[in-house]
Amino acid sequence: MLETTGKSTPHIQPQGAPIAETILLPGDPLRAKFIAETYLEDAQQFNQVRGMLGFTGTYQGKEVSVMGTGMGMPSMGIYSWELINVFGVKNLIRVGSCGALQDELNLYDVVIAQGASTDSNYAGQYQLPGTFAPLGSYRLLEQAKRAAEEQGARTHVGGVVSSDVFYNANDQVNHRWASMGMLAVEMEAAALYMNAAAAGVDALALFTVSDHIMRQEETTPEERQTAFTQMMEIALSLA
Ligand code: ADE
Repeated sequence: MLETTGKSTPHIQPQGAPIAETILLPGDPLRAKFIAETYLEDAQQFNQVRGMLGFTGTYQGKEVSVMGTGMGMPSMGIYSWELINVFGVKNLIRVGSCGALQDELNLYDVVIAQGASTDSNYAGQYQLPGTFAPLGSYRLLEQAKRAAEEQGARTHVGGVVSSDVFYNANDQVNHRWASMGMLAVEMEAAALYMNAAAAGVDALALFTVSDHIMRQEETTPEERQTAFTQMMEIALSLA
């Protein structure tokens, strides 16, 4: 467990409650609460600033935390940066939903983001003499793929696009990303991967397909539960 006594940030104030080296990061803080209540033993809340609930407990004897990140790269950027650079978190696993861009993907499939292209300028801060390719941790990716195979989950590994824009005025953008082989669109992974790369820690983003953009298909929140359970079992196996 990471000792948090005396440590706090503008957005995370644990007041001494511990944070684990491995953390699961759903977008929705109520999803974090649900995960803690459903999967963790002896869960202790470590954050409630801005309602961004965070919990630490154990899963099959292993220490793990779970915390909401909010939506979009600025929000993910803040929480993951503080978790890594102030609290010392080492393995960050986003668990979210994505919109499918390729025909071979179906609703409820699991997507593992090998890399996250983006329309955001988040990488501008690093002043690199070119473009940066945000990648997931190969160690976590291999473990996640193995866990997915053991479960028999329909899983795809490849590139996703992390977009700043959910309601895009240009209805062709998703087709352009699809033509470059992106499996799906979501809104946070690239910032997570960049913060992890800059600090030399491990991050991976897992998704369930909640909508198919090319086929205009959508799931209902109730229907998502089963797929969510599969993704969670993969994510928890990484702890
Ligand atoms: N997350 C789930 N579906 C999405 C979509 N269509 N666009 C962006 N993020 C998403």
